[in-house]
Amino acid sequence: MAYNLKREDAVWAAETFEKIKVKMLAECKRVGTNIPFVPRDGKYHDLDGPEGIYWWTNGFWPGMLWQMYNATREEIYKETAIGVELRLDEALNGFEHLHHDVGFMWLHSAVADYRLTGSKESLNRGLHAATLLAGRFNPGGKYIRAWNGENIGWLIVDCMMNIQLLFWASEETGDPRFRQIAEIHADTCARIVLRPDGSSNHIVVVNPETGEFLDNPGGQGYASGSSWSRGQAWALYGFALTARRTGEAAHLDASKRVAHYFISNLAISNWLPIVDFRAPEEPVAHDSSAAAIAACGLLELAELVPELEKNLYLVSALKTLQACEKSFANWDPSQDAIIGSAAGAYHSSSLDARAPIIYGDYFFIEAVLRLAGKAFEIF
Ligand code: GLY
Repeated sequence: MAYNLKREDAVWAAETFEKIKVKMLAECKRVGTNIPFVPRDGKYHDLDGPEGIYWWTNGFWPGMLWQMYNATREEIYKETAIGVELRLDEALNGFEHLHHDVGFMWLHSAVADYRLTGSKESLNRGLHAATLLAGRFNPGGKYIRAWNGENIGWLIVDCMMNIQLLFWASEETGDPRFRQIAEIHADTCARIVLRPDGSSNHIVVVNPETGEFLDNPGGQGYASGSSWSRGQAWALYGFALTARRTGEAAHLDASKRVAHYFISNLAISNWLPIVDFRAPEEPVAHDSSAAAIAACGLLELAELVPELEKNLYLVSALKTLQACEKSFANWDPSQDAIIGSAAGAYHSSSLDARAPIIYGDYFFIEAVLRLAGKAFEIF
């Protein structure tokens, strides 16, 4: 949809899109079908996520390529994205290593390919991934299990994004089971993962037989009861997308509640989200990826709400995107990655601490393309 942008914001979106085009074309030629995560010394490396081909972020590079293909029709993006999708087949066939992030991994690769090219093989991959995700549903506890190992009763807020794969699968096949599972999981998440004040837990642990609440560990945030900003962003965007699919006022209100909480926190940090909104004042560490994801969610909300509500979400999305671009962007086309100062987790001391991370760039590009009227629906 076209947003009602002020002239200076429309100019910013158009100019930023031009910069993205230059940067992404150079990056695509350099990176090719390698699967990047975090650059080191300005260069991406192949499969450097901790779980190799199974790492949850492996769909974002093809997602960026499909967005760029849709926006520019440059064949190199399409050919490269298809090459990455084929590489991901190794993961799709590795059942025991897969997790709920099959949503992120195949929405951005196979489903995007199917939507743009109609490829039957890609349709199959998407439905295969959706079936794996549906298979993680726990009917007793009414939730989708996040990870493997001993974490049987764990559900996490990030899954609000992954369930978009299930809505797609129902739309595609006419089989309501996928959508029913997504809706039940979303309702559980609204009930026990979100908090009444608009903040969200990252992880909730339930009794897997009954769904009874047991614990809320800190997860990637500062501590139990804190407020990991990327988790808040997943909730904001995930509930907005879910509201679009279900038409339920409760899902829209859940997204709006998180949005109002998120915007309040940005208002005291110059529109740059810190890694956790409930962490000690020092050290100050930002997570630009939370801003990019939240901006996409705010733009989605701006499409869903009545006319006189739109401006709050549109202006807030613009403010945080522009602040991140000004403070953290690297437009040098000879270096990989655009938006710096993302963070894998509050306590992370590894590769993804205070660095550009591939999903930050994906959501930044999606947000700018939305504003420029050039994005296509991946979720
Ligand atoms: N889905 C994991 C993360 O946001 O880091």
